[in-house]
Amino acid sequence: MRLHAAYRQRESQCFLKSDGKLRCTTCHDPHNIPRGEATAARYNGICSACHTAVFNRAVASGAHTAGANCVSCHMPKRRTDDAVHMVMTNHLIRRRQLGGNPLMDKAEARESSAAAYRGEVVPYYSVKLSATTAEASLYAAVAQVRERSNLKEGCRDSRA
Ligand code: HEC
Ligand code: HEC
Ligand code: HEC
Repeated sequence: MRLHAAYRQRESQCFLKSDGKLRCTTCHDPHNIPRGEATAARYNGICSACHTAVFNRAVASGAHTAGANCVSCHMPKRRTDDAVHMVMTNHLIRRRQLGGNPLMDKAEARESSAAAYRGEVVPYYSVKLSATTAEASLYAAVAQVRERSNLKEGCRDSRA
């Protein structure tokens, strides 16, 4: 799921450039999420803990809105691509959102063998498990064999 919180957070500059200081628990217990208007101030306060200086400077120079609801602009909710009946909070914190309405209805994509991904299986933790190590190659090979549907037609085991 491409909009999964952990997957998206790992792509955020806030995570990549804060020396491991941005964790799930910096903002909330991932299994008990405080929600709604009443909690907005709490989340926005967490942004400010790291960004007050840059924020104040940008507001003073007219480069940034004085609006205090950081999350509404930088972490809006979005309909997911693969489970189209749900909406998730985009944990990729970025400057500008992509255009269009992120909550707009989407057509359901029916899974079929014709549309299935048949590419190479790629390790997710590519930094920890550098693709150059023998261990990484072994894991990738095992995953590739397990995910038979990913193999090109000609390579498929006839017993499958
Ligand atoms: C633990 C500290 C920390 C927290 C908490 C944090 N950030 Fe950041 N954020 C950073 C760092 C570090 C950068 C990278 C700054 C740089 O590139 O110089 C960054 C970058 C950004 C950027 C620029 C992103 C880009 O792609 O250029 C935005 C926008 C931003 N943060 C907004 C927020 C908002 C909104 C929140 C709260 C939801 C938040 N941050 C929470 C540390 C944090
Ligand atoms: C910078 C703050 C921040 C960090 C860090 C953060 N979250 Fe969130 N998270 C939020 C906000 C804001 C919401 C939306 C709350 C609401 O609905 O009012 C949310 C909502 C959620 C939800 C509820 C479903 C949804 O998408 O709305 C889950 C699950 C979740 N976060 C998991 C995680 C996990 C797992 C991590 C760590 C990988 C994480 N979060 C890190 C701010 C954060
Ligand atoms: C109305 C929408 C909106 C709100 C509310 C908002 N921002 Fe932003 N923010 C933006 C936009 C748009 C940019 C990109 C500006 C640009 O690239 O010129 C930005 C840029 C940033 C940056 C990057 C600045 C830089 O120069 O690197 C940070 C950090 C940031 N915002 C933090 C925050 C924090 C913290 C809050 C809440 C206190 C907040 N923002 C509230 C829209 C918003």
